[in-house]
This record gives sequence, structure tokens and C-alpha cells, in this order.
Amino acid sequence: MPRQRRRALLLAAAIISAGIPNAVLAQIRYDPQSKIFRLSGGRSEYDFGIDEQGYLRPVYWGSQLDPTAPLSIPALPPSKPPVLASMEPSSSVTAQEYPGQGGGIVTEPGIKIAFPDGNRDLVLKYRSHKIFGDTLTIELADISRPLTVTLRYTVDPVTGIIGRSAEAHNRGTVPVRIDQIAAATMTLPYEPDYRLAYLAGRWLGEFGLQQQPVGPALTILESRRGSTSNHMAPWFAIDRAGTTGEESGPVWFGTLAWSGSWRISVGADVLGRVRIAGGYNPYDFRWQLRAGESLDTPIFYIGYSDDGMGGASRLQHRFQIARILPGNGRPKLRPVLYNSWEATEFAVDENGQAALAEKAARIGVERFVMDDGWFGKRDDDHAGLGDWTPSKSKFPNGLGPLISKVHKLGMEFGLWVEPEMVNPNSDLYRAHPDWVMNFAGRPRTESRNQLILNLARTDVRDHILKALDDLLTTNDIQYLKWDNNRNFTEPGWPEQTAEDQQRLYVEYTRNLYYILAELKKRHPEVEIESCSSGGGRVDLGIMRYTNQVWTSDNTDAFDRLIIQDGFTHAFTPAVMMAWTTDTPNFATGRSADLTYRFLSAMQGGLGVGNNLNKWSDQDFATATRMIADYKTIRATIQTGSLYRLARPDSSRPTSDTLYVANDKKQAVLFHMLQNYRARDNLPAIQLPGLDPDRRYKVRVLGGGDLPPGVPAVAAGSWWMSQGVVLPLSSDFKGIGLVLEE
Ligand code: GLA
Repeated sequence: MPRQRRRALLLAAAIISAGIPNAVLAQIRYDPQSKIFRLSGGRSEYDFGIDEQGYLRPVYWGSQLDPTAPLSIPALPPSKPPVLASMEPSSSVTAQEYPGQGGGIVTEPGIKIAFPDGNRDLVLKYRSHKIFGDTLTIELADISRPLTVTLRYTVDPVTGIIGRSAEAHNRGTVPVRIDQIAAATMTLPYEPDYRLAYLAGRWLGEFGLQQQPVGPALTILESRRGSTSNHMAPWFAIDRAGTTGEESGPVWFGTLAWSGSWRISVGADVLGRVRIAGGYNPYDFRWQLRAGESLDTPIFYIGYSDDGMGGASRLQHRFQIARILPGNGRPKLRPVLYNSWEATEFAVDENGQAALAEKAARIGVERFVMDDGWFGKRDDDHAGLGDWTPSKSKFPNGLGPLISKVHKLGMEFGLWVEPEMVNPNSDLYRAHPDWVMNFAGRPRTESRNQLILNLARTDVRDHILKALDDLLTTNDIQYLKWDNNRNFTEPGWPEQTAEDQQRLYVEYTRNLYYILAELKKRHPEVEIESCSSGGGRVDLGIMRYTNQVWTSDNTDAFDRLIIQDGFTHAFTPAVMMAWTTDTPNFATGRSADLTYRFLSAMQGGLGVGNNLNKWSDQDFATATRMIADYKTIRATIQTGSLYRLARPDSSRPTSDTLYVANDKKQAVLFHMLQNYRARDNLPAIQLPGLDPDRRYKVRVLGGGDLPPGVPAVAAGSWWMSQGVVLPLSSDFKGIGLVLEE
């Protein structure tokens, strides 16, 4: 390996392991000779160039190359027999960096438009570019019409993750209809064994990891629901079957920073090259771009890892912490919270919550949250949404007395809200029946007895902002759990012209971001959780404005391991909230001991959701120990490096997850047995990521004796190569080990 490259790699490795944001490694270069742009950061590189006809064409995406690597724009495939014949004109098989729908392409376009005269042919060619530090913009223009597209690329120096987006500009005098617009399109060269990974599920079962070969059939990952969705997460990864493992081999990945309807498509073209596109979902999409107007897309963050799925996950975690989450690269660690939703549901009142708060404070909870049921006429899910003032019967003196009680107990106070929604049985709806999303004169589907306020309207946006601002101004609140319990149906906006009604899909989400940003500005100390019937709104768009997410309404400790395993493929544990709750679990009927439930919930941001009125002294003692110890490891869990040593699929007896602190001074292993089957012959668990030359002492998380055969102190190299055997018996038992230098 050339010396220069070796140095760059060592430097990158040092920066990555130290978690230091550093600007030296991102590079955007343009070589006027070859007309190739080279974008590099971390240990990866993404290249494309301008061909002799002026098309922008993909060149390379993978691990960082030698700076002198002889790159060239791939030759056009011969469009003559016997290879492709007349069915595939070269325009249709020439991969472009961001194609307009036109000139005969038959794969997914970047953008598809219609001019008022019926012309739907858009052929985009390079016009100019600018490089400012870590950002590159390229202007593409149609060959004859006044329509241009600006492509934007920003390169993160530490992880090499590239943020790509596109903006269409109508530079003419008549409106142009945009039918489809992606943030980015990507192409990978032919290989026979590409495999697509994505995350799918539903309420109570979000983030299930799915894998399938990439073949000629286009696979569509999407939400048509106006919101990110519990069904699929806006994320993909592609690896190579047989070559890529958990900790080695190539992985290309990407995730859309958008909380409205989205789409990512993946498929192989006639030459076997993988075509990837992602952006606004073209389903029911239409945008009338008036003369002089522009339309911007969300950002598609794409990256590459040589270190398997594990490496790809760690890059994404680090990137999200450094570049996405509030806190300018240093997000606050998640406080331990208490929430009584599963214990009391809507039956909240001042005395009941105060009694729970006393018990929560005793076990070390730092943030007490009152969930649904505190406002308006909210005794069940039939009424009250929209009326964000305390229920007179449950809180005759307002929220003040409870809040000061919680503060006196040394905890922050948090509150549940669902601001985008309204029950027809509410004062807000009676005053503004026209504010809900609807098609005039048509039935409106209710879900959980609620309708959606049309946030695309500025009056609705301003009303919601004011209601929340008032709530936060008149009460000393530190945290909002922002819920969203249904998706769009009948997405009409009758006050708009027919041409502009479908703007709703974009304007709704923009206004949601506007409210969140404005609240953060006015109340900088208030933290927000993104919840949507569990994990229905988790994406890098909402993560810019929120400090944590509710992963799933499924709080079963074993199911959660599976959900958390899928989640962390795409998203950082720094935002992943998990609670212990009562057993048998409401969703699954499964029981597990409290230690196991804590060990499962401690793998993200820890919360407690049990009915503390029913706890024994022993439960209180267990919780107190576990919470105290969680506080000593949470920085490692939330901001360290995660290794999936054994994934919790049902074919394995255990799931083993390791978190290593960035300075390698601490590591935490969670060893969870789900399926005993009289297994005494469990394999040793080796712990990667440690410093082989340091000595680590070990203790049991939450206290207790070390299992036989586990040395109290050993060198990092011993833990890494020899490893530990941790026998457990009976189902749903777990043990955590904390290693400290
Ligand atoms: C949703 C949330 C739950 C809870 C309820 C309250 O289902 O995901 O955590 O807040 O709403 O109605």
C-alpha cells in the first residue's frame, strides 16, 4: 500500500476511533483533464464525471482509492448486436448521475416534468460547478428549455457520508409540472451477488431487518402515508452475499432525511448494474413550479463501509451524533425517565401522578413524564385532542402543583402531546371544522377517533405553534413527548387550487419542521421525543429537531432486542428509548424477570414504565441498582461503538451486544439468553474493539458475583482473543459485564 494512502488511513482510523470531528480529511477535487469529480472523506470515496457529450456519469463508489488512481468515465456499452440491439439505445443504458426523464431512459429518473405544451422530455447536461470546502454544487440544464437542476453534495470528513440533494429551478416564463423528483440517484457496477437490506414492520413490530438479492425487479421501499411510517424506515443497505459479513466486506448504504411520504427504489438494470433512487414519493405527487420558483428535495445521506454491516452502522451512528442531532456534535446524554402510560393509561390525575413521582425519584429517575390523558376532556381516546389545556377535573389547580412537586423531587418534568391531531369531539374542532385534511364534501376516515389538522395551512401551523409555546411558557416543562398516532387519508386541501393541492405532502412536513425549530429557538432547554404509535417517525429529518425517539410501543424485553437490533442498523442508540414495563407484557403476554427487562432497556436510553404502586421491595432494590449502574455506562451505550456479536434471531440461543467507549476505557457486554435448550456448551464470546495492550477489570452490571471462569482482570488482548463463556439457564435470562481500564 502506498505510504501516503497508509498515512491517510491511519489518520482516518485515529479520528474515527477518537470520535473527533475534524475537517482535514474531506476532499472534493475536480480534475479538468479527466473531468472527474472525486469526493472523499473518512475511508470512502465517491466519484463521477462529465462525459464528452456533457452528461454527468457515475464513475466509482467504494473504499478510498490512491489519489493517483487512473479513473475514467466508463465507455458506452455497444448498442449493436449481439449485446443490446435496437431495444436498448445507448441513451437508455448510459448510467447518469442524475438523469432527467427524457432522451429515452427507461430506469428511474432523478426528475420527471411536464411543460404546459405537453413536452415531457428533459435531458440534463452539465453547465457549471462550484466547490466550497466540504460542499460541491453542480448546475445541470436542459438541452433546450429553461429548466435547471442544482445538485448539492456535502462530504463529512470523518465518516465519508455524503449528503446529496437536488433543487429544480424554473427559469422560464410558464409553469412546469414536476411529477417526480429524487434527492439523488446512484449506480453500482455489475456484480452477481448484491443483496439488499431494509427495515420493515408495523405497529408493535417496527425495524425488522429484511434481506433479499438485488435482481431485475425494482424493489420499492416507501411510505405513501404522509409520514415516515411504522411500515418501513427510509433506509437501505446493499452488501455482497458470501463476501460481506457482520464485521468485514463492502456495504453501501443510504438514508433519507424526510418525515413525509418518501421512496427509495433499488433494482438491477439490463446490464446488471444496480440503480438506486430516493426522494419524495412520486405517488400522488405533483408540484406546479411557477416561473422563477424552485423546489428543493430532502437530503439523501449515502455512505460506504469496508467493515460489514457493523462498520456501516457505526459510521451512521457517529455521523448522526456529530452532524444530525441537536447539540452541535455533543448531544446531551439521555436522562433516565419514568412514564406511566402502560401502568395507568388515561387515568392520570394530580395525586396519582404525584405518588408515582415520589417512587420514581427513589429509584433514581431523572425525568418524570406524564403521558396521554391530562388535557381537555380526555378520559379515553374519543375526545380532547386539540385542546391543550389541563383537564379541570384531573388538575383543578392546573399543572403547576404537580410540576413543582416533580421538581422538588429533583426530576425534570415532561408532558405528552399530539399536536397535529384533533378529535371531532373537541373545542378546537367545533371552532375550526375546516382545519382538518379533507376533500370537500367527501367522507373523512377517522383513525383512533381522530382527524389530522392540515398543517400545510399557515393558520393551522401558527395555531399549533402558539398552543405549544403557551404551554411551555406558562409551565416549567423540560420535555415534550410529541406523538402522531395516525397517517394521512383523504389528503385534500380544499382551499388550494387543484394544481397546488398536492403541495400538501411537502408543506405539511416543512411546517412540522418549522414548528419544531421555532419551539427549540424559543425554549432551548426543552427536549422533544419523536413518537408515532411507537417508531413511526424515525428518520434523519425529524432527528435534527428532536433529542430522542420512541422506538416501538412493543416493550416486551425480548421482542425489543429484535426491534433494537434492526433499529441500530440505521440509527444511533443515542436516541433509541426503551422502557422496562410490567409482565406479562401487554403486547406479547411474555414474562421475564426484572433484571432481564432492565438489561434489554439499558441498551439504549433507559426508561421505566412499570406500575410502581405494584412493586415489591425487591423490585425497588433491583431497579435502584440497575439505574445507578446505567448512569455509569450510558455514555458508552449512547455514544460509543456498537458491535452485534450475536443477533437476537430465534435460531440462536443468545443475543450478544457489545458497546465500546470511544476512548476504549470502558466496554459493556449484554449477554441475553432467549432459548435455553439445555445448552451448556455455549461458545466463548470474544470482545472486539478493545485496546489489546490495556488491562481491563470486569464487574457484573448492577452488581453480583462474576460467573465462574471469568477473570477479574485481564489484558484487552485476552478478552479479544480468548473471550468469556457466560452460561445461563432458563429462557429470558441475561447478564451484563462492564469492563473498565
Ligand atoms: C401512542 C404512543 C404511546 C402512548 C399513547 C398515548 O400509542 O406510542 O407511547 O403515548 O399513544 O395515547
